[in-house]
Order: sequence, then C-alpha cells, then structure tokens
Amino acid sequence: MIKAVNLSKTYKMGEKKVEAVRKANFEVDKGEFFVIEGVSGSGKTTLLYLLGGLDRPSEGTVEIDGQDITRLSENQLAKFRLKNIGFVFQTFNLIPTLNARENVEAAIVPTGMPAAERIERAMNLLKAVGMENRWHHLPGKLSGGEQQRVAIARALANNPKVVLADEPTGDLDTKTGLKIIEMLKELSLNNGQTVIVVTHAPYVAEYATRRAKMEDGVLTFAD
Ligand SMILES: Nc1ncnc2c1ncn2[C@@H]1O[C@H](COP(=O)(O)OP(=O)(O)OP(=O)(O)O)[C@@H](O)[C@H]1O
Ligand SMILES: [Mg+2]
Repeated sequence: MIKAVNLSKTYKMGEKKVEAVRKANFEVDKGEFFVIEGVSGSGKTTLLYLLGGLDRPSEGTVEIDGQDITRLSENQLAKFRLKNIGFVFQTFNLIPTLNARENVEAAIVPTGMPAAERIERAMNLLKAVGMENRWHHLPGKLSGGEQQRVAIARALANNPKVVLADEPTGDLDTKTGLKIIEMLKELSLNNGQTVIVVTHAPYVAEYATRRAKMEDGVLTFAD
C-alpha cells in the first residue's frame, strides 16, 4: 500500500544541512498497523509528511496504492490526499473559528457530499471518538486531548486508505489514549485501512503489526 524508495529530506539552514530523513526504504502492506518510535528531533514528523504528500522529498519516491505521489502536481496531490490519506497532526491544526463538528465537516466539504449527510457523518465520527456531546465547542474551548480526538475524527472523515497519525495519544491520558489506539487498530483490522502511528507511548507499540525506530533520520526495523 505504501512504498518508500531511498526517501530522503534535507533541510538547508544557511550553511548548515539537517538530514531529517536519510534514504528510507520500506513497504507497508494494506491493513498493517505500523508503529514508528524515536526521540524528539529524530525525523518522525518529517517522514510522515513525506508519506502523506504534505512535503516533497529531496530525493527518492513515495508510492501510495501504486501511485508515485512525488510525480503529482500540487493540484493532483491535493485531490489524491483528499481521497486516500487521513493525517492526524502532532499539533492538531484545527480551524479556530469552526466548532468541532464543522472542523470535521470541513474535511468532507470538498467531496461534494450533501449537507445533511455530511453533518450526520461528522456527528458519527465525533461519536466514535467520544466527542458527540461537545460538537458545538470551538477548539479554543476544548482541552488538548479533546482537540486531538476531533483531529482524529477529521482525519477519518473520508474513509482514507491510509491513516498517518503523529503522536495521536500525546495529549491523552492512558485510558483515552488506549481507546483511540484501539479504534485505529480496529480500522486496520476490520476496514483494511493502513495505519502508521508515530509515538512515544509504550502501550501503542503493543498493537503494532510491525515496528521501526527512527534515529537521527535513519529508520531501522525492530523485526
Ligand atoms: N522546516 C524545517 N526546516 C529546517 N529544519 C527542520 C524543519 N522541520 C524539521 N526540521 C529539523 O529536522 C529534524 C527532524 O525534525 P522532526 O520534526 O521530523 O522530528 P520529530 O522526530 O518529529 O521530533 P518530535 O518528537 O519532537 O516531534 C530536526 O532536527 C528538526 O529541527
Ligand atoms: Mg514530530
């Protein structure tokens, strides 16, 4: 489902170069629950951005479901992401002027789904993450963990083939975190969705079908 070949990203900061991702080579099958661990600054977010087409690699390619996304124009890429990729940002990135339900709806609007159906879908997604009673709150009135759950609902809005989650349990207590991880795990098991999770939480790794570690831009597999 996902194939990375010599995937690299180098940031240039004046004279200095930061090799955030160095020649990553791997494949992730449909329905896998792939967990990436690593200390702060090791390149985890950069790697997820490359896989999700949110950033362009300096070198190498990313294939999603047979499509080399590094060859797509910005326009094509936006369309491809809409249909195929759900991204849970480390910093949530909710729209501050929209309430929880509207934030989820905003991800659905570009698909052209009729409003009534869209609202129902957004509410069902919020229910799945335990946020149905707070649907009318603006992000600023929600705790970090609650915002995170809305962000997860939004990422799942269009039933993406690939879900990329950057520390989705970072701001959650263990109990809520476990619920979220079990929900993501269920998506991979019952819905065949491919899930990649970046995490620091030891309990998340227990759900993995495969684990890898990021160290100084280098990805190595545990098994
Ligand atoms: N836009 C950027 N410009 C320059 N350097 C960057 C940029 N984004 C990330 N970096 C650098 O690339 C390296 C990897 O960063 P990245 O955010 O991918 O790490 P991370 O593993 O996600 O860390 P954390 O666990 O703190 O989220 C770091 O040294 C970081 O400073
Ligand atoms: Mg990060």
